[in-house]
Amino acid sequence: MKKIYIVGAGCGDPDLITVKGKKLLENADVLIYAGSLVNPILVEECPAKEKYDSWGMKLEEMTNIMIDAVKNGKTVVRLHSGDPSLYGAIIEQVSLLEKEGIQSERIPGVSSMFGAAAELGIQLTLRGVSESVIVTRPAGTTLKKDQIAEISRLGQTMVIFLGTEHMEDIFEKVECHPDTPAAVVYRATWPDQKIIRGTVSDVAKKAREAGIEKTALIIIGNVVDAVNSGYVNSHLYG
Ligand SMILES: C[S@@+](CC[C@H](N)C(=O)[O-])C[C@H]1O[C@@H](n2cnc3c(N)ncnc32)[C@H](O)[C@@H]1O
Repeated sequence: MKKIYIVGAGCGDPDLITVKGKKLLENADVLIYAGSLVNPILVEECPAKEKYDSWGMKLEEMTNIMIDAVKNGKTVVRLHSGDPSLYGAIIEQVSLLEKEGIQSERIPGVSSMFGAAAELGIQLTLRGVSESVIVTRPAGTTLKKDQIAEISRLGQTMVIFLGTEHMEDIFEKVECHPDTPAAVVYRATWPDQKIIRGTVSDVAKKAREAGIEKTALIIIGNVVDAVNSGYVNSHLYG
């Protein structure tokens, strides 16, 4: 029996899918894709006869399509936004597939955290400034309590997913100096990308003024303003 391929589409720009992911898309018979965040160009270019937008689909509905297709000898690609390992809800899919004896293979993608870092022109880790990057999300409908306050006390780089609607709450919880640099990146690497730079005290307001209400990443930490961060040159350069 064939495997199911769980592929990261990259965070926006359709060229940010891996070569391996692109080859699999070109050979897919069935494509299930995350419609809200996967670039439609990738979906249009995929020759699969059956294409399903996973938005609003129940878990079993989706896995049943995959199971039927694979049992009929078809090549199935499940296309996730960014990299599937970040807020991708893939383990529950894989678990149902495994119960049917179906294996899956994961192909990573360029996460929005890397797309955003590239567009901001920053390094998420920077010698003398931050040796750690903490990826997190705020409390909301699917998470009762978050760790934003505790994490912010560590003084390391924070990357906050799924937080655009809760921006004001997030910055209220953050316990670092109000002048700590921060950025909000909306739809990194898409043609309508917006980049807002500021500080913990003003970036949320600036982002709202720019009309950002969804699909953004929040990055907090001195790495956001490398020039003024007091970074030390890497050992790599002697
Ligand atoms: C369900 S998560 C998926 C994350 C994805 N797996 C990744 O690696 O980028 C969706 C959240 O990721 C962030 N996101 C996804 N694509 C983005 C982009 N191009 N620019 C900024 N944030 C993005 C937003 O915070 C959004 O609410």
